[in-house]
Formats: sequence, structure tokens, C-alpha cells
Amino acid sequence: MGAVIDLRSDTVTRPTEAMRTAMARAEVGDDVYGEDPTVAALEERVAGLLGHEAALFVPTGSMGNVLAVRSLVAPGQEVLCEASAHIARAELGAHGAIGGVTMRTWRHPRGDVDLDAVRAMHAPDMGPFFVRTTCVSVENTHNFAGGTVVPLDRLRDLREWADGAGVGVHLDGARLWNAHVATGTPLADYGAQVDVASVCLSKGLGAPIGSLMVGSADAVAEARVWRKRLGGGMRQVGVLAAAGLHALDHHLERLADDHAHARLLAEACGVDPAGVETNIVVVERSDAAALVEKAAAEGVRVATVGPTTVRMVTHLDVSRDDAERAAAVLARLV
Ligand SMILES: Cc1ncc(COP(=O)(O)O)c(C=O)c1O
Repeated sequence: MGAVIDLRSDTVTRPTEAMRTAMARAEVGDDVYGEDPTVAALEERVAGLLGHEAALFVPTGSMGNVLAVRSLVAPGQEVLCEASAHIARAELGAHGAIGGVTMRTWRHPRGDVDLDAVRAMHAPDMGPFFVRTTCVSVENTHNFAGGTVVPLDRLRDLREWADGAGVGVHLDGARLWNAHVATGTPLADYGAQVDVASVCLSKGLGAPIGSLMVGSADAVAEARVWRKRLGGGMRQVGVLAAAGLHALDHHLERLADDHAHARLLAEACGVDPAGVETNIVVVERSDAAALVEKAAAEGVRVATVGPTTVRMVTHLDVSRDDAERAAAVLARLV
């Protein structure tokens, strides 16, 4: 058996030698004092990519989402999102526990925006009678729906409706890079449809840590205070920001390889590759746990994300050769 091929997540990558060199050479300073030039460069770069005024470097996508959502939703108000959104399912209730935010959800098999449902759920300010909707959150790409892309047109429709309703729009763009590479849509076009976003460097881009909350200068200034309040004020983290800058320079366009590898795996698992838009493949199996075990025994690590759902994710540390080897194993087992 060759080296283990780890398809559990795109967060399992290890920094490349070139990334480690960039990290070692980074200029640093105390970022709580606003004195880390590498962090400042990363924040400016990512804000620019999304066409927003400012960005804030945070340790995780979860913190980026908490800061972004709370910038639009006061305690006791609500955010609407898709039922399997990461903010609803996988942030351990942080938005309620920390932000005092309440949440209602619509269901969509591809994690898409259902504008009819949003319209129907939207609750304007009714004083002391109903929870007020102040934000709609979208996830692009959508993790648990299988790396699906929320189309730009749908986001434009949502933006138009939200402007009319006086509601903010949040984007969980942990994998927005994948949507950009898969569709060719400029990142700024996605950015233009939302008030605040969180994007991650530690997923497909292969950095060991790091996300950015992106938004207006005011929203980011307030988030800087909240980041510190949450214990996320960091010091000489230019070494980490350098990994992010290196990732943006060297690992963005190559995401197309991950998408091709994911289609290869899908085919091997009997999933229509045409439905695999980016780097995540979801396979429905009644024997999900057994499949995970059997694959592991053959050197291919995949994960369950539900009792009957197996997920595999391609990334920087999965070569074409690895993808072909994993596909051969999975084809045999499935
Ligand atoms: C869509 C999405 N949003 C947010 C996150 C949270 O990122 P982190 O693990 O850095 O908190 C993840 C993590 O996988 C994710 O998939």
C-alpha cells in the first residue's frame, strides 16, 4: 500500500517548502498595535480582491463568520440561512452563544438561495411582537451540499431584494476561491452582492491557518474590537499572513486541478461528475461508516458528514496520481 491519501477535508494540507520559506522571511510586528506589515498587506489584498473597503485577519472561518454576522444582527434579531449552512450546523451555536443571534432556515438540496422562502420568512421590525430579520446568509461554495456554487445571478436577485427590504447580506465564502475558479466569476462580482464576508486561507488554498472578515471600514473597525474581546487579538502573526499571501500567489489557479480530481472520484463512486462543481464529492450510502472503514484499510481516508453521507474533498496534497489511485480503490468498494 502506498502513502495514505487523505480526502477527509481540504484542511488537512501541510505547508509546502516554499510557503514555509515565505513564512520564515515575513516581516512582522505587533498586530494588536496595528504594526504587522505582512498582516496589513494581506488584509489590503483580500479587501481589494472582494472589492470591499477593509478586511480583518482572524484565526478561523468560524470567527470570521461570527464577527461578520454579528456586524449585521444585533442580539435578539435573526439571520436567515440554508438549513445545512456551516453557520447553522457546524459552528457549535456560536452565533447564538456569542452574538445572541437567532436563526431560521430554508432547505435547498444544493445549498442555493431560495428567494421565495426568504421573502416568506422575512420579518420586518414589528417592535415588541416578532423577531426582526436583519441578515440573510449565503454559503459559496456550499460545503455540506457538496461544494456547489451559488450562481451570481441568484446573488444579484438576493441583493436587489435585500436592498428593498433593508436587510444585510452575509457571505460565508470559506471556499469562495473555488467558486471563482470554477465559474470564472471575478471575486469582486461576488463581493459586490454582499455587505460582509468571511473567506478562508486554510481550506483549498493550503495555508495552515487564517481567514479574513471583509466589509466596510466601519464594520471591520468594530470587528477588530470584537476579535480582541473574543481573545483573537494576535501579535507577530505576519508569519501566518505570509502563508496566506503565498497561497494567493501560488495556489489559487491550481484549484481547477482539485475540481478535475473531484470529478474523477465522483465517476468512480457512481456520482454524476457533471453535478460536481468544485472540490467536494458527496456520496449517499446506507453503509457510509463501513465504506469509510474499508477505504481506510486500503489507504484512502474519507469521512462521514451524516449517518448516510460520505464526503471526499480534493486539495493541494492530492496529486493526479493520488486521485487516480483513490478512484481505483473507491470504484472497487462502491
Ligand atoms: C463553509 C465553511 N464555513 C466556515 C468554516 C469554518 O472554518 P474554520 O474551521 O476555520 O473555523 C468551514 C470549515 O470547514 C466551512 O466549510
